[in-house]
Amino acid sequence: MTSVAIVTGASSGIGAATARRLAAEGFHVLAAARRADRLAELVAGIEAAGGAATAVPCDVTSDESVAGLAEAAAAAPGPVTLLVNNAGGARGLDPVESGSVGDWQWMYDVNVLGTLRVTQALLPALERSGAGTIVIVSSTAGHVVYEGGGGYAAAKHAQTAVAGTLRLELCGRPLRVVEIDPGMVRTDEFSLVRFDGDADRAASVYAGVAEPLVADDVADCIAWCATRPPHVNVDRLVVRPLAQAAQHKVHRVGS
Ligand SMILES: NC(=O)c1ccc[n+]([C@@H]2O[C@H](COP(=O)([O-])OP(=O)(O)OC[C@H]3O[C@@H](n4cnc5c(N)ncnc54)[C@H](OP(=O)(O)O)[C@@H]3O)[C@@H](O)[C@H]2O)c1
Repeated sequence: MTSVAIVTGASSGIGAATARRLAAEGFHVLAAARRADRLAELVAGIEAAGGAATAVPCDVTSDESVAGLAEAAAAAPGPVTLLVNNAGGARGLDPVESGSVGDWQWMYDVNVLGTLRVTQALLPALERSGAGTIVIVSSTAGHVVYEGGGGYAAAKHAQTAVAGTLRLELCGRPLRVVEIDPGMVRTDEFSLVRFDGDADRAASVYAGVAEPLVADDVADCIAWCATRPPHVNVDRLVVRPLAQAAQHKVHRVGS
């Protein structure tokens, strides 16, 4: 029977790449995000490539919307074996001194409480499958801090804490918890969202970096972790581009 994978934040970037990759691996993918038109395009592309997917418009900051995602999972054509908590992002690069409370609230709600809501809603189905995997896409910002990154790092540190806590709490049950921590990934929207649509500022993040990671690189890591035998738990996978030795150490051509 086809296994079902749920991917949040599937309308762009890492989530869309992960949905495509998991469909190619044979999962029936439930692709969740707020933008239904983008999900429809994604599903059409997956089906054209011979895969199977269902678009599930969902806002991870809404209990009601997440309950709808759980209903869609219950109606899916197979056991739910994989949840990828990927929806998230950053807003602003302001110092703590002047950071926007609204931006911090948004980051906490989407990254942390979104992961909490969706995980709580899907955990029974994942456990019923007999071999469930919960992936949490946090960040290297879940382990280190940087100037201007206080709100994002706080949210990602919290997501990392959720992953570690959950693994302890679920020990002895057929559920593994995998944390994926990417460094710099050039996706179409992450930096645009962070800088409120300022394309020049968004592009400057990747300036001079010959080969930042791209969404498919992270999707590859997620797919690898998720397709190990069920007794193999990759606790945490940190992945960066070659040019980024650490959060503060990036090789840029011409600088
Ligand atoms: N890019 C990087 O450098 C990088 C590095 C480390 C970690 N990450 C993490 O990787 C994940 C994906 O990032 P990305 O680069 O692929 O960014 P992205 O292209 O901006 O994707 C973010 C996704 O989250 C969805 N989303 C946002 N708010 C949502 C909500 N309330 N409910 C449901 N979905 C929501 C968006 O879809 P809708 O707008 O359609 O809802 C979108 O599909 C994030 O958790 C990010 O923090 C990114």
